[in-house]
Amino acid sequence: MLVTDLLTIEGLRTTFQTRSGEVAAVDGVDLSIARGRTLGIVGESGCGKSVLSLSIMRLVPPPGRIAAGRIMFDGRNLAELSAPEMRAIRGGRIAMIFQEPMTSLNPAFTIGDQIIEAMRAHDRTASAKSLRARAIGALERVRIAAAARRFDEYPHQMSGGMRQRVMIAMALSCEPDLLIADEPTTALDVTVQAQILDLLRTLQQQTGMAIILITHDLGVVAEMADEVAVMYAGRVVERSPGPAIFDDPQHPYTLGLLGSIPKIEEDRDRLLAIEGAVPSPFDLPPGCRFHPRCVFAEPACAEADPELREITVGHRAACRLAPLEDAVG
Ligand SMILES: Nc1ncnc2c1ncn2[C@@H]1O[C@H](COP(=O)(O)OP(=O)(O)O)[C@@H](O)[C@H]1O
Ligand SMILES: [Mg+2]
Repeated sequence: MLVTDLLTIEGLRTTFQTRSGEVAAVDGVDLSIARGRTLGIVGESGCGKSVLSLSIMRLVPPPGRIAAGRIMFDGRNLAELSAPEMRAIRGGRIAMIFQEPMTSLNPAFTIGDQIIEAMRAHDRTASAKSLRARAIGALERVRIAAAARRFDEYPHQMSGGMRQRVMIAMALSCEPDLLIADEPTTALDVTVQAQILDLLRTLQQQTGMAIILITHDLGVVAEMADEVAVMYAGRVVERSPGPAIFDDPQHPYTLGLLGSIPKIEEDRDRLLAIEGAVPSPFDLPPGCRFHPRCVFAEPACAEADPELREITVGHRAACRLAPLEDAVG
């Protein structure tokens, strides 16, 4: 069977208009994801991961806008849809969960009422009784114990992990083809994080939805993703199937991220830990955006911003020194 992409992003550029001019938070991103698969997007804070996901949802806050590129979803360019068409996509085909569920849940309503409201948005004919039964079923599906009792609780009565489960239940109520999870476990402790990731995986197997999993944690991506894209300063700097990016990283930035995973750190040169910070889109260095922080940088790296190019089959990196075996020695 031919595997067709559910979502294909081409040349996406998302900008913010500021007093000092227009800056690009996402600057020429190409990505794709097939049905039922998980794409992990990883990078430090400020690399443009959230702006990318908000672009797909067409929820970039003004004065931000999609300035260029196409977001092809199941044959349609989301960048060109009208507001009502986009609302239908968000309510029925693509759902999103965020890092901090407390800011997305309304503290004034019970979680049951909020799940029912999410369900009613795409099923206006269901009776109150059947919606209640379905909402309790949705809570059970995300493994909330004593769901019928929890149904009448308010968000503040729940733990962070429970609230994230409620958010997942609400997101899944529209049976999305694509779930975008932006740092869904960052605010949770390690045990609860593992439970939520396990839940997402199980739900994906049950529903066949594709997942874009955004995180600054390469460990999370290693566990979950079929494909990985590493973002740096608004661009994708490395892309590959999951295992290859960990076994054979081809961009120095990815090497640096891997160096910050404790398990791997022991066998790596300490020099690889990344110093400094992600540049702001106002203040990008010339040439390769990573070169001021790169331990392998050469004078030529300050001259041209390298394109993403194929290093081995299916594995792309935007570094003039790749393949890195030679550079690392
Ligand atoms: N509303 C906004 N106005 C101006 N700049 C923004 C806005 N939102 C994000 N940015 C900028 O876009 C860049 C990427 O941000 P973001 O996508 O939130 O990064 P990440 O999710 O990877 O941490 C940052 O430099 C940030 O300052
Ligand atoms: Mg973010």
